[in-house]
Amino acid sequence: MTKFKKIGVLTSGGDAPGMNAAIRAVTRTAIYKNLDVIGIREGYRGMIEKLFEPLWSHDVSDIIQRGGTILKTARCMEFMTAEGREKAYNNIREVGIDGVVVIGGDGTFTGARIFNEEYDIPFVGIPGTIDNDLYGTDYTIGYDTALNTVVEAVDKIRDTASAHNRMFFVEVMGAEAGFIALRSGIATGAEAILIPEKDEGAKLTSLMESGRRQKASILVIVAEGEEEGGAYALAAKYKTHFPNYDIKITVLGHLQRGGSPSAFDRVTASRLGFAAVEALLDDQKSVMVGIQNNDIVLVPFRKAVKLHKDVNRALLEIADILAI
Ligand code: F6P
Repeated sequence: MTKFKKIGVLTSGGDAPGMNAAIRAVTRTAIYKNLDVIGIREGYRGMIEKLFEPLWSHDVSDIIQRGGTILKTARCMEFMTAEGREKAYNNIREVGIDGVVVIGGDGTFTGARIFNEEYDIPFVGIPGTIDNDLYGTDYTIGYDTALNTVVEAVDKIRDTASAHNRMFFVEVMGAEAGFIALRSGIATGAEAILIPEKDEGAKLTSLMESGRRQKASILVIVAEGEEEGGAYALAAKYKTHFPNYDIKITVLGHLQRGGSPSAFDRVTASRLGFAAVEALLDDQKSVMVGIQNNDIVLVPFRKAVKLHKDVNRALLEIADILAI
């Protein structure tokens, strides 16, 4: 007989398209397994402030296709304190929650790991962030949708860039990682991709030295976390090297986080939501459910957060060659 009667589910950190699909999968899998489900609003803040609401099957109807998160999300500093976590523990104990599924990124999993070192209510995580920067999973929920959003936007920029012989620096999200920049750069045929993972100094050198300078337009995709600076700083720095071009800058910003999730993100979220409930029932704790080579895997929070997930280095080379 399982000890589980009731589980909680929350979304925390930056939202990502597909979080709703994950909430739906967790809720319906749990109900199927005869568990009660409590939605915890606004991430860890909801545990501390008792923002609890029962979730029934109909509460998660008509959300699989929606961006954002019906449970809302937050970054909660109080949960990073021992007092905050104690309050959270007492509150979830009081409502009878036996385990929690947390959907989010590295900050979310760091909080969950610390909580599970202190308290006996198990937490299992689902990777939800557009940045795709969690170790141990090939994909995070929201990454594919964000990538497609970026590609659609950059294709439009290319039209106008070519019409005017312009050079564009386009900044995409990825505070500490270049996954979105690298893939979107390849998908849009960018002339250069600047990401924090590239280690050489002046990353526009090959572009400056090559025949690419003669093209009708030049697109440079810049990851937000690029250490030489964002799109504005880079454009100012390299302006004089491209005298033939009128230089423009676009920062795509938060539009990358919204929108209806792609089919890929919906399916990934559904698989991971199902797996997270199974993991809890299997007495797992302090682990993230991930996808590796299309199989579901369990990865300790410690590894998912601490170990560095590298970009596919072969793609960097391909991107450079295909942009000649
Ligand atoms: O969701 C991840 C991310 O998009 C980062 O790439 C970005 O730096 C950050 O969130 C910004 O989030 P917010 O505006 O919510 O602080």
